[in-house]
Amino acid sequence: MTGPLSTAQIREKYLQFFESKGHLRLPSYSTVAPDPTTLFTVAGMQPFKEQFMGAPAVFDGVANKRVTTAQKCLRIGDIENVGRTLRHCSLLEMLGNFSFGDYFKQESLTWAWEFLTSPEWLGLDRARLYVTIYEEDEEAFRIWTEVNGLPADHILRFGADENFWPADAPKEGPNGPCGPCSEIFYDRGPKYGDDSWADYAVTRESARFLEIWNNVFPQFDRQDPLPDGTPVLKDLPFKNIDTGMGLERIATVVQDVYDFYSNDVFAPIVAKVAEMSGQAYEGPQSVSHRVVAEHIRSVSMVIADGSVPSNTGRGYVVRKILRRACRHAYLLGLREPSLFKLVPIVAERMGDAYPELRENLAKIEATVRAEEESFLRTLEGGIQRLGKLMSGMEKGATLSGNDAFVLYDTYGFPVDLTKEIAEEYGISVDEAGYAESLENAQNLARAGSKYGKSELFGGNMEALDGLSPTVFVGYDDLQADGEVVALVGAGERLTHLSAGSEATVVLSRTPFYAEGGGEVGDTGRIEWDGGSAGKGWGIVRDTRKTPQGVFLHDVLVESGELKEGLSVRAVVSGERQAIQRHHTATHLLQSALRAVLGSGVQQKGSLVAADRLRFDFSHGAALSADEIAAVETLVSRWVSANFAVTWQEMPIADAKAAGATALFGEKYGETVRVVRVGGSVEYAGQTVSSMELCGGAHVTRTGDIGAFVI
Ligand code: ALA
Repeated sequence: MTGPLSTAQIREKYLQFFESKGHLRLPSYSTVAPDPTTLFTVAGMQPFKEQFMGAPAVFDGVANKRVTTAQKCLRIGDIENVGRTLRHCSLLEMLGNFSFGDYFKQESLTWAWEFLTSPEWLGLDRARLYVTIYEEDEEAFRIWTEVNGLPADHILRFGADENFWPADAPKEGPNGPCGPCSEIFYDRGPKYGDDSWADYAVTRESARFLEIWNNVFPQFDRQDPLPDGTPVLKDLPFKNIDTGMGLERIATVVQDVYDFYSNDVFAPIVAKVAEMSGQAYEGPQSVSHRVVAEHIRSVSMVIADGSVPSNTGRGYVVRKILRRACRHAYLLGLREPSLFKLVPIVAERMGDAYPELRENLAKIEATVRAEEESFLRTLEGGIQRLGKLMSGMEKGATLSGNDAFVLYDTYGFPVDLTKEIAEEYGISVDEAGYAESLENAQNLARAGSKYGKSELFGGNMEALDGLSPTVFVGYDDLQADGEVVALVGAGERLTHLSAGSEATVVLSRTPFYAEGGGEVGDTGRIEWDGGSAGKGWGIVRDTRKTPQGVFLHDVLVESGELKEGLSVRAVVSGERQAIQRHHTATHLLQSALRAVLGSGVQQKGSLVAADRLRFDFSHGAALSADEIAAVETLVSRWVSANFAVTWQEMPIADAKAAGATALFGEKYGETVRVVRVGGSVEYAGQTVSSMELCGGAHVTRTGDIGAFVI
C-alpha cells in the first residue's frame, strides 16, 4: 500500500535528487547562527556566505562546488502570528541546493522543475505550478517558458521587494551576497480559496497559491549605499545558486492536508496536546494547540543545539518561545508542567534527520520542565493582576507602559504576553512607555548595584573561593591575552561552556574594566583558538569584580567551546573610548561646578556610560541658566586646550597633600590612583584645575572629549 510521502521521505528524496546531480550532501548546521548578523540560523545559505563570496568550497576536506542540505532554521520575526495563522512557523526545515560559481539559472530552474514534476520524484501536477520572477529577469522567463514549458500566464513579475533575496536587499541590506530570485507556487485548488493567480499580483497572500520553493541567483555583493541613498551592488567573483524549499510547506502540498499542523510531524504532537488537556483540536482554542505544538518543536531543537532559556540574547528568545507555549498550555487548562512530555514525540518524529534530538533528550526534557515550573509560578499571579488592571477598561483603551512594566518587574510577566492577552480584549499597550520604564529601572539598578547583589552567578560566591585577584591591564591596553581560570554558571563551577550558553568567566589577565566608581563595566569579545579543540568566540556583556579583585566577565559563547585553562584573547569594544570621554568629562564637570557654585558642592554619585554621563551632587538650590552656561563654557575651555590627562599611583597622604579631590565618605586603600588634567583654566579670577582619586578609565588628552553639553 502506498500513501503520500512522509515528511522524512520527502526530505530524503530531495537530498538524493541533488546527490544524483553531483551535489555533496552535508548535515544541517546548528541553529546557532554561524555569523553575528543574526542570533539564529535563518536560511540554508547562511553557513555558506563565505563560499558565495569566493572562499574555497571545501567541506571537511571534501571539495565540491555543489552542496545540498536540509537546514534547521529559526525565524522569530513573526512569532506572534504562529498558531494564529496556518502558515507561520518559528522552526522550519529548509531544503536547499547550492552552487558556488558552478551551475547557474538554467540548471537550477530545470532541476527544480524535474524534481517537482517527474513521477520518479514528487510527481506534482504541472498544471498547478506557478512562478514569480524578478521584473527584469528575461533569462528566467525564457527558461520557465521555453525549457520547462510553463505557460506565460503562470508567471508574474515583481520588483526587488518580492523577487530579490534577501527581500529588498539593494535598498535595505543586509550587506553581502544577494540576487534576484524566482519563487515557485502550487495551486492547492478551490477548496482553499476562490482567488486566481492574477489576483495574487494584487493580494500577494493566498491560502490557495502556496509558495513552496525559492530559487535565488546570488550574483551581487551588496555594499553600503552612497550618501544619497543610491544602492551599491558589486559583482561577486562568480554567480551562485541558493535555493530554499520549506519542508513543512511541501509536505502539506504532497500530503494534501489543510495546513502543516495536519502533516505527519505535527499531527501526533497536536493529538497529544488534545489528549493531555482533554480539549479537542477545534474552534478558537485550537490556536493554543498549534502554538504549543509548533513551539515545542523549536525549543527542543535549539536546546539540543546548546541554547538555554535566560534573560539575554539567544537565551531570551528561547525563554520567550517557551513561555508563550506555557501560557497557551495554561489556557488549555494544563496547570502542571506538561510541555516536556511532548519532547519525546518531537525526538521520535525528527530524530532520524537530527540525531541531536535523541542524544540530548533528557537534557531537553529537564530544561523545558524547569522553565515550565518557574513560569507557572509567576503566570498565575500575572494573569490575575492583568485581569484586575483591565477590568475597568473599554475596548480600544491603552494599558499604561508603567503597568506593563510592573507586571514584568514584579510578576516576571513578559511584555509580549501582556500585549498578546491585552490584544484579545481589544486593549493595546503603551510600548514606548514600557521601554522608558524599563530603561529607567535598568539605569537605577546599574548605578546602584553592588557586587553582592549581582545576578552574575546566582549570588554564590563560594564558587570563586581560592581564586587570585585578576591582573588588570585595561588602563593602557584594550586587548590582552589571558587564561580562563574559572567558569561559573548558576553558582557552580563549570569545566566548559558550549555555543549558545552563558556564564561568568574569570581570566588570569584582562583589559576589561569592571563596573566601579560610576563607570559601567566594559563589554566586548573574547576569542580563542583551542588547536584541535577548535576556535570560538563569545560576547562579553558586562564586567564586574569581587571585593577581592577577581574580575567577573558575563559571557555568552557565540561559537565553539570555552574551557577552563584555555588561552583567550580579550578585546574591549569600541564603546570604551566613549566611556573614557565621559569619565574625563565627569571630572572636569565636577571641577567646573565647584568653581561656579562654590566648594560646598559634594559629589553623591555618578554614571559614566558610553552614551552619556550623569553627575549627582548636593547644592542648596537649582542651577540657573547662567550657571549652567558658565559650567559648560568652563569644561569646553579645557576641551579646546587639549591638555594631557595622566594618572599615577601614590600614597594616599601625598595625594591629599597635593589637593586631590576624593569622594566624601568613600574608603580608600593605602595606595591610590590619582588622575590629573595637566593644565588649568581661569574662571572669575580663580585658577581651576582637576585632580581626583579615581580608578576609572580616561582619555589621554582633553581634546578627545569633543563637544560637552549639559
Ligand atoms: N535563501 C533563500 C530563502 O531563504 C532561499 O528564501
